[in-house]
Amino acid sequence: MTYQTSSPATVPNADEAHADAEVLQVVGGARLAGQVQISGAKNSALALLAASLLTGEGCEISNVPHLVDIERMSAILIALGAQVLRQGDKLKIRAEQIGYASAPYELVSKLRASFFVIGSLMGRCGRARVPLPGGCAIGARPVDLHVRGLQALGAEVHIEHGIVEARCRCGDRLEGARIYLDYPSVGATETIMMAATLARGQTIIENAAQEPEIVDLANFCIAMGAQIRGAGTKTIVIDGVSELHQASYAVIPDRIEAGTFMVAAAITGSTISIAPVIPEHLGAVIAKLQEVGVRVVQQGRDQLTIIGGHGYRSADIETLPFPGFPTDMQAQFMALLTLCEGNSVITETVFENRLQHVAELNRMGANIKLKGNVAVVSGVPVLSGAPVMATDLRASAALVLAGLAAQGVTTIKGLHHLDRGYENIDHKLRTLGAKLHRTILE
Ligand code: UD1
Repeated sequence: MTYQTSSPATVPNADEAHADAEVLQVVGGARLAGQVQISGAKNSALALLAASLLTGEGCEISNVPHLVDIERMSAILIALGAQVLRQGDKLKIRAEQIGYASAPYELVSKLRASFFVIGSLMGRCGRARVPLPGGCAIGARPVDLHVRGLQALGAEVHIEHGIVEARCRCGDRLEGARIYLDYPSVGATETIMMAATLARGQTIIENAAQEPEIVDLANFCIAMGAQIRGAGTKTIVIDGVSELHQASYAVIPDRIEAGTFMVAAAITGSTISIAPVIPEHLGAVIAKLQEVGVRVVQQGRDQLTIIGGHGYRSADIETLPFPGFPTDMQAQFMALLTLCEGNSVITETVFENRLQHVAELNRMGANIKLKGNVAVVSGVPVLSGAPVMATDLRASAALVLAGLAAQGVTTIKGLHHLDRGYENIDHKLRTLGAKLHRTILE
């Protein structure tokens, strides 16, 4: 798809109503085989798109996945005055004139990451108007850490009628500061890092998030001329510069998509290879797969072969900030653990409402008991296909995985969640031998 516009935002291919009329029918039991190509990381690409507003010179970002969330973010950049041109997997973004227009509510409300433009807008223009965000229904997801970070950098912030309005207290440049994050929030680290690249003086973010996407954002900003060190550790130091320049940059591979395909191999007892990946980004996922009895073999620098089997053992999981086990893999792993012998305890510590897939997996014959943020999964010998509803992005992936292993047909509704985060997932799985197709139910 190619699009270029400086007109008001539209969201190409993000037709939620259509995606809601469609269901995905997965016929369980097929063995998978072959190699699958992992796309660019959605969460990195979203942060890079926000950061592209930091310069008026134009940026080229490649390995950008074709996803509804990316299209929404592109539409937000366009609404803010940028030009966005898609050429295959490359986005050319030119944010020469960034206006003071508010990012459009109907887009921001559907994509939490779009709120992060507040960081680049504050860095570049010293003022911003952004509606409070939306995104997956996985908890309250406040933005207090973003706001407190911007305030520490010298912004005055008012929240009224659902709009966050921020402007520099003096002049149009923020002032570097030492900021301690009460929690290593990915988004707040990104917002503050972007804002601080163009602030006067030095900013130190303590207890920063260490996710690979933070490192990717820092590297992109460094390619634009920012001075950042320590990204990937708990302390990030940013020396503000007066302006940033043009850059070309490629997004890292998506560790969550990779992890999802690893579980697909495991749950179907299959052997598949995935590439490109950065194995260090998958440490916790690989460790847990090995703990249940799946073999994972690295080939070369960027390829993993996953050798599934049967008779897996249970494992306990606690979601944590990186390098802990990612919350974005919790639902998919739960699908696998439903078929592992014994009891597994899953504790979700990052988001308070991210266990809605439990009820749907139980509809498929799983035995999961839920108390607060803890799910106890008692392994069952088989799952059986059933009509189920995707409740959020990663929950939808978990249902696809459960469907691949189940006896009979699983019919998944709520596909707009899946399409927010997985590029061509049906096609990729079919290429591996899975039996699944989309259809409109009468
Ligand atoms: C990002 C990812 C998301 C992933 C999550 C945790 C993107 C676009 N999304 O989301 O896929 O699941 O990291 O790895 O990159 N919190 C606050 N106040 C704030 C900010 C966050 O209380 O100002 C809380 C949240 O409600 C949540 C926790 O901190 O409970 C973690 O959130 P955060 O790390 O900020 O996640 P996101 O950046 O939203």
